[in-house]
Amino acid sequence: MYALNTVCFTVLLASTALAYVILKPKAYIRLNDDNGAKTINASTLNSVDFDYNTNILYIIAKEPARLTAFTLAVDGTPTQLLEHTFNPYLEGYPLDIEICRPQTLGATPRVAISFVNPASRSADGRVVFFQPLSFGSTTFDEIQRVTVGAYPYDMEFTEDCTILIVSNKGKPTKEGSQYRDPEGTISKIQLGVDFNDATPITSSVISFTDYFSGEAGLLNYIDLLGKNFRTFPVRDPTNNLLSLEQNIEPHDVIITDNGETAYVSLPVNNAIARINLFTDQVSEIFALGNRTWRNYYMDASDRDGATDTGDSELEVQLGDEAVLGRLAISTVDGVRTDGLIDKPFTFGGRGFSIHLPTNLGIGSTTVDSFEKVTKQYMSDVFNTAYTGPSSNPQADRETTSPYLGPDLQAMDVAEFEDKTVLFVAGGSSGILYVYVLSADAWCPQPYFHSLYRAGGKYSSWQALYDTEQMGDIGITDVRFLEDIDLVPVLVVASSTSNSVSIYTVEEGPFDVETGI
Ligand SMILES: *[C@@H]1O[C@H](CO)[C@@H](O)[C@H](O)[C@H]1NC(C)=O
Ligand SMILES: *[C@@H]1O[C@H](CO)[C@@H](O)[C@H](O)[C@H]1NC(C)=O
Repeated sequence: MYALNTVCFTVLLASTALAYVILKPKAYIRLNDDNGAKTINASTLNSVDFDYNTNILYIIAKEPARLTAFTLAVDGTPTQLLEHTFNPYLEGYPLDIEICRPQTLGATPRVAISFVNPASRSADGRVVFFQPLSFGSTTFDEIQRVTVGAYPYDMEFTEDCTILIVSNKGKPTKEGSQYRDPEGTISKIQLGVDFNDATPITSSVISFTDYFSGEAGLLNYIDLLGKNFRTFPVRDPTNNLLSLEQNIEPHDVIITDNGETAYVSLPVNNAIARINLFTDQVSEIFALGNRTWRNYYMDASDRDGATDTGDSELEVQLGDEAVLGRLAISTVDGVRTDGLIDKPFTFGGRGFSIHLPTNLGIGSTTVDSFEKVTKQYMSDVFNTAYTGPSSNPQADRETTSPYLGPDLQAMDVAEFEDKTVLFVAGGSSGILYVYVLSADAWCPQPYFHSLYRAGGKYSSWQALYDTEQMGDIGITDVRFLEDIDLVPVLVVASSTSNSVSIYTVEEGPFDVETGI
């Protein structure tokens, strides 16, 4: 078995620490749906940010098109300050929120929210800048807005708040007979330290076209293809040829501390792009290759298409529904000229890797650690996902096994008690994993410390939701906050449970509770 995503050697380490970094539940809040009521599965994407100046936590929920703000000023317990509803027909659905306060005296703090175009998600999106809320705020006031590319999925400010980088996913749509697949692009928005509704804001587009144009571009493309870079489909449903740029789908963006470079993940393309923020060019794309699963544990229990792998054991597993028979397998990679699948390639990393900044080579990686520790500690909700209100978490175990396994959807890295701690969330299962990265001169090595899953396992999803025991299902964002009332916390935003949880981050014995 092979998986597209990440290559190389592996380190799987058991913890040697005496005290583990653990999470303890502190608060759990269900957010409103678009009618202001509480309903299960009311959102599709929730995103959070925090304003340390005011202790205000902002949560935006895409589908109900809402912002809910809480103050954490009283003992770190969230108290709702304000709820603001966006009009999806006029303003669009919100995708991401970023707050930035320039350190300069007299500067304008800013809250940026990216929106899907209200007419069509494949039309240009926008970023709207708002005034940050304060304790007595009753309204959420816009300063100014700018147009960006289609489906502005993620944003990041430079440290001085004067540049905002936006990744425009460019998702395709078919509306009636019209098919449209916009290019994936990056927007660079430049705004002053001090700005108001009349101050010019410039927005420019960083495109992937140059990287693939001319002879050098062809060489870039050939090189990437050798490392499992993917740009499919080649043609749209109306049989028109699609360009490479149309098939590039930027997702998450980060900016290096010196503000010179941005990294953008291209998950659909199995790659990471490096962007030079001086020249405003894509300077390099790193394809993430593939890795063999032969010596690792993968629980992947539909797949059509004939295989002829020459490996009798693998053939039996692929034929068995309970083993690999339902695994989603590539019909492009590992296919022989006669059309039979010679080497089955599946998707999704199911682990995490730490890459070296120079060439994005892999320094360390966990391959099957998530699935192993989940099997060990929480086998009754292993790879579970919400399939409907009358089912339950335990009955729905294994739902994501044939697809993305642990379905890792969000992470944050933080400094805590002189350690570098990584928090990773299994999106559908609602399991939070904590790893500590050892200080290694060359590349930090990950040590598993603990895992935590809120919510019940055996009552129906609806009953759990109604009694506020659904936990964090459909996690789309996690954020570490340092020293909230002297205690560091992890904020977890989830879409299916349409909730926000707050956990305190502590050191102590790791003990898995049995659940409800
Ligand atoms: C998978 O990666 C290896 C290198 O790790 C490479 O030799 C091989 O060609 C790749 N397989 C495919 C089908 O691209
Ligand atoms: C949850 O909501 C999403 C978006 O509205 C929908 O596509 C999905 O089918 C729902 N899930 C279930 C199990 O009802």
